[in-house]
Amino acid sequence: MHIEKVWALYYSATGTTELAARTVAGEMAARLGVPLEAIPFTLPAQREKTYTFCKTDLVVAATPVYAGKIPNKILPDFQTKLAGNGAVAVPIVLFGNRSYDNGLAELCAVLKNSGFLLAGAGAFVARHAFTDELGTGRPDENDQAEMRAFADKIADKAAALQAAPAPMQVPGDPDAPYYVPKGMDGLPAKFLKAKPKTDPAACTACGLCARVCPMGSIDPGDFSLVSGVCIKCQACVRGCPQKAKYFDDPAFLSHVEMLKTHFRDAKKNEIFL
Ligand SMILES: Cc1cc2nc3c(=O)[nH]c(=O)nc-3n(C[C@H](O)[C@H](O)[C@H](O)COP(=O)(O)O)c2cc1C
Ligand code: SF4
Ligand code: SF4
Repeated sequence: MHIEKVWALYYSATGTTELAARTVAGEMAARLGVPLEAIPFTLPAQREKTYTFCKTDLVVAATPVYAGKIPNKILPDFQTKLAGNGAVAVPIVLFGNRSYDNGLAELCAVLKNSGFLLAGAGAFVARHAFTDELGTGRPDENDQAEMRAFADKIADKAAALQAAPAPMQVPGDPDAPYYVPKGMDGLPAKFLKAKPKTDPAACTACGLCARVCPMGSIDPGDFSLVSGVCIKCQACVRGCPQKAKYFDDPAFLSHVEMLKTHFRDAKKNEIFL
């Protein structure tokens, strides 16, 4: 296939998915000697318009896994805002050292339904947005080297394709239910309604948290107020320069403790060609 441009399209609340998408797509563009363009798909305004591709495009489409699948509030935009028109896509998921469960299978299915041809896919380990103690520092240098090696293989495969690539198998079931988070007691941890708190002594009212919230849920008139839905993405917590945002919901904290207790062993990246 004749590729004229590589795209890095990513939903990324705390930056690891962006790093992976840019690493993979950047390497592909360099390998093929074609331009690279990034499409951040994180903020509400970025997910409003439709992105239309064509047969000479190679699109790295990336998302983190939330509760074992594509983040449920972002899924409708992945389903309706991307038009493949026969472009080659490379689905990528990032996961925080527990499991990507059905997230990669779901992303593959969504992209196929939107008219993309899939040339390869990857699930990469990242620091867990909830805690630096899981997947610490990842994707690190070794992970990024694996991403570049993966990108080279796919770039070569895409360039050599004479027809649609053969169907690709990835683990998981796109229609499986979401993972149910557990607490330290092993029972479901119910923190769907939890929202971040703000330390008034630390907050300087800079407004950054409101600007980075993927749900547009932080009140621009009062940055301590979360007036819309909170998906627990941690963009505001990690983005606040004063470290003024935090979660104190007991069920949420118990889930994080459970993850730290049971999912410490470093997981491996997985690639599919
Ligand atoms: C709400 C939420 C749910 C998550 N669920 C999972 C999960 O089921 N399995 C897992 O391994 N990591 C899970 N993670 C970790 C993210 O997949 C990981 O931190 C990813 O790097 C976040 O991407 P980002 O840095 O682009 O925001 C979850 C993170 C969040 C915020
Ligand atoms: S980013 Fe932090 S300091 Fe800035 S308004 Fe939000 S909570 Fe306050
Ligand atoms: S308020 Fe919730 S959804 Fe918005 S950035 Fe913070 S954690 Fe994410």
